[in-house]
Amino acid sequence: MAIHPFIYQANPVRVVFGAGSLCHLATEVDRLGARRALVLCTPGQARAGARVAALLGERSAGVFAHAVMHVPIESARAARDEARRAGADCAVALGGGSTTGLGKAIALESGLPIVAVPTTYAGSEMTPIYGITEGGLKKTSRDARVMPRAVIYDPELTLDLPLAITVTSAFNAIAHAAEGLYAPDGNPVIALMAEEGIRACAAALAPLQADARNLDARSDALYGAWLCGSVLGATTMGLHHKLCHTLGGSFNLPHAEVHTVLLPHALAYNAASARDALRRAGRALGIDADTVPRELQELARRHQAPTSLAAIGMPADGLDRAADLAVQTPYPNPRTLERSALRGLLQRAFDGAVPQA
Ligand SMILES: NC(=O)c1ccc[n+]([C@@H]2O[C@H](COP(=O)([O-])OP(=O)(O)OC[C@H]3O[C@@H](n4cnc5c(N)ncnc54)[C@H](O)[C@@H]3O)[C@@H](O)[C@H]2O)c1
Repeated sequence: MAIHPFIYQANPVRVVFGAGSLCHLATEVDRLGARRALVLCTPGQARAGARVAALLGERSAGVFAHAVMHVPIESARAARDEARRAGADCAVALGGGSTTGLGKAIALESGLPIVAVPTTYAGSEMTPIYGITEGGLKKTSRDARVMPRAVIYDPELTLDLPLAITVTSAFNAIAHAAEGLYAPDGNPVIALMAEEGIRACAAALAPLQADARNLDARSDALYGAWLCGSVLGATTMGLHHKLCHTLGGSFNLPHAEVHTVLLPHALAYNAASARDALRRAGRALGIDADTVPRELQELARRHQAPTSLAAIGMPADGLDRAADLAVQTPYPNPRTLERSALRGLLQRAFDGAVPQA
């Protein structure tokens, strides 16, 4: 295959990977020249947050256990105020995309350096993308200042991630890589990461279904999530991510589940215009390119993940508005965005029907 001209810009981030690597946290805080780290987490991960604070010892500035989905501006302000009050000169974001997102909001406003300790496969720690919700509207943008300065991937911290979240979060990761394969700013390096990321995330699912505490499979999935997140951070999003954001934002649907349901349909829509991307995704999954959309839907079904928008709370009477929103603002996508074809896609996704072009 001919290599065409391309530009590749890596996001500067230090990665510490491996089972037990949380033990390097204090060293990573020191490397930033920081002395007191505020630990961020969700209320559900408060105990894990307290353990991390204990591990930091005198370098801990306490725990802010109020991270919530979609980073409401109020929680970002409260966290920033708490960091100031506690004299923190660094924050440790322990958790999934919601907590990493809170860390990014703080970094954007205050310049506080962030160490991310991801515990899902969302991949936000590898992207300069941030989102903040104000007055019910989520604004997303890119800014290099929100990139965590160091990321510690410790698969031991994912052993208790519930299986249902494990599967949908892995699909969220696979979606980042799949769209990176046909992004206008993709390149051969990103494609390598995308293919390997899809492979690692998908291959981890069967062993995790058998034993959710399988550390080798947890390591594979987290490694895949890192690669897939890096792909998202380096490329421009297309139809799949835009549809997910539209549905998530306008109809308040759960993030990773929307990705799981829509990915097969978005890939089927783009398949004929993105043959090489589908070929690579197929190679990663060990299947024929033509069967990728259908097999991904089967993979979700096999692991009891949702395969219809109806099952995750999408109102049937919202499909027309969703189709309108999807064509309102243009964005790069291999296949032209046609309202009637997208309305058909949304109907099939709503019904959980077989994905079609
Ligand atoms: N900016 C980006 O690049 C980017 C990328 C992906 C996702 N996101 C954002 O991230 C958010 C979704 O992130 P998410 O899917 O990781 O969900 P999440 O961070 O909301 O976590 C989901 C739930 O899982 C729990 N949890 C997380 N890790 C756990 C663990 N190891 N064990 C037990 N429970 C655990 C959390 O407490 C939470 O209740 C969305 O707001 C999305 O927009 C942003």
